[in-house]
Amino acid sequence: MPTTLIQNGTIISSEESAKKDLFIKDGIISLKNAEETADRIIDADGLLIFPAFIDCHVHFREPGNTHKADMESESCSALAGGVTTVCEMPNTNPPTVSIQNLKGKVEIASEIPNCDIRFFFGVTEMKHIDQLSDLFTKDEYTELRKRCCGVKVYFDNSTGNQKANEEVVEKLFEIASNLNIPVVAHCEDAEINDASAVLIKETGIQNHSLMRPPKSEIVAIEKALSLVRKYGTRFHVAHLSTAGGLSIIKKAKKEGFSVTCEVAPHHLFLDEGDYVRLGALGKMNPPLRKKEDRQALLEGVNDGTVDCVSTDHAPHTLEEKNAENPLDAPSGVPGVETLIPLLLTAASKNQISYEKIHEVCFVNPNKIFNLRKEEIVEGSKTKIVLIDPNKKVVIHGENLKSKCGWTPFEGMKVMGQIVGVI
Ligand code: NCD
Ligand code: ZN
Repeated sequence: MPTTLIQNGTIISSEESAKKDLFIKDGIISLKNAEETADRIIDADGLLIFPAFIDCHVHFREPGNTHKADMESESCSALAGGVTTVCEMPNTNPPTVSIQNLKGKVEIASEIPNCDIRFFFGVTEMKHIDQLSDLFTKDEYTELRKRCCGVKVYFDNSTGNQKANEEVVEKLFEIASNLNIPVVAHCEDAEINDASAVLIKETGIQNHSLMRPPKSEIVAIEKALSLVRKYGTRFHVAHLSTAGGLSIIKKAKKEGFSVTCEVAPHHLFLDEGDYVRLGALGKMNPPLRKKEDRQALLEGVNDGTVDCVSTDHAPHTLEEKNAENPLDAPSGVPGVETLIPLLLTAASKNQISYEKIHEVCFVNPNKIFNLRKEEIVEGSKTKIVLIDPNKKVVIHGENLKSKCGWTPFEGMKVMGQIVGVI
């Protein structure tokens, strides 16, 4: 295999970021023994080098909804965005609620180059919990369970209607604790959402945020935390969207509970004011919130309350999004390819550091979901991303690799481009 020497780049790590030469032979990285020459020499002066990123919340739609997206198209999109590991959600058709269905997805993923796709197991009924127990206890599934990064549960319906009732939820928290598997939850309270929705009589898209109000997220998180207190479950809040939710999590962390959370770029970089421009292209669950929530979430990222920034990459076709009544359009937006450019842009405004980006898009998801990815250290085989932090780019859906061909960040000027993944 030809050798590669990458000179003068700045390597970002959890310790101290530093300018170092990197020598790669047979896929193995060496920092100490960088030889003078190699078959290929890359001048990385002015470039940042990160271990390739992890997006711990994506929907790749395969099987069942491949008109929206598929593993191959969305893996290309991830790669173009510097992401080479993703955790994929169970709301496919069929959903990932049985060992057999998980096997089917793992088989498709094994044919996909350049992206390590791990899968969340879904639970909507008691029998799915039995399947989950078998997966994590029976010897015959030792290899298969390595492809499963945790279990996902919905407290209210979203795309795919996977809401579990309270009895199922409580049993899941108990069993997942025994099995030491992280439970990821979509935290919106069904009763509050239902009661809020009936009050809405108009069709404007901005009503989506009123139909799924902040209180819904706050109550759902509180209910889940009462189960965490009872069973000691490792609990991860998906796509946290409110300042109120954030402060509850901050308190629970201080009390020592095993709680982690993620925020999505659309909740960091968009808010309710963007409905005018986006229409249903700004519709997702939980919905866009206020400017103050955005600011609080960004503070949460920087003070360590927020563990991960992950995209909830949830593509739908433009045709589906252009429903006559925008409130009938499906919820969800793509994001895996724009995650890192958006965060680098925040870095260019001193809102976040490069080390923090590395932490929330690599170190923390790697640890929480036990993905076993390596940092850029002597002897590691990790994939690396070269980034030009000073390159200006305008985001256009038509230039992105995702099958859906649109983005809620259309027209945004970003600072930072993925130069390549090695
Ligand atoms: C997701 C989707 O479309 O799969 N949509 C969304 O708005 N987030 C479903 C989900 O995770 O809620
Ligand atoms: Zn999701």
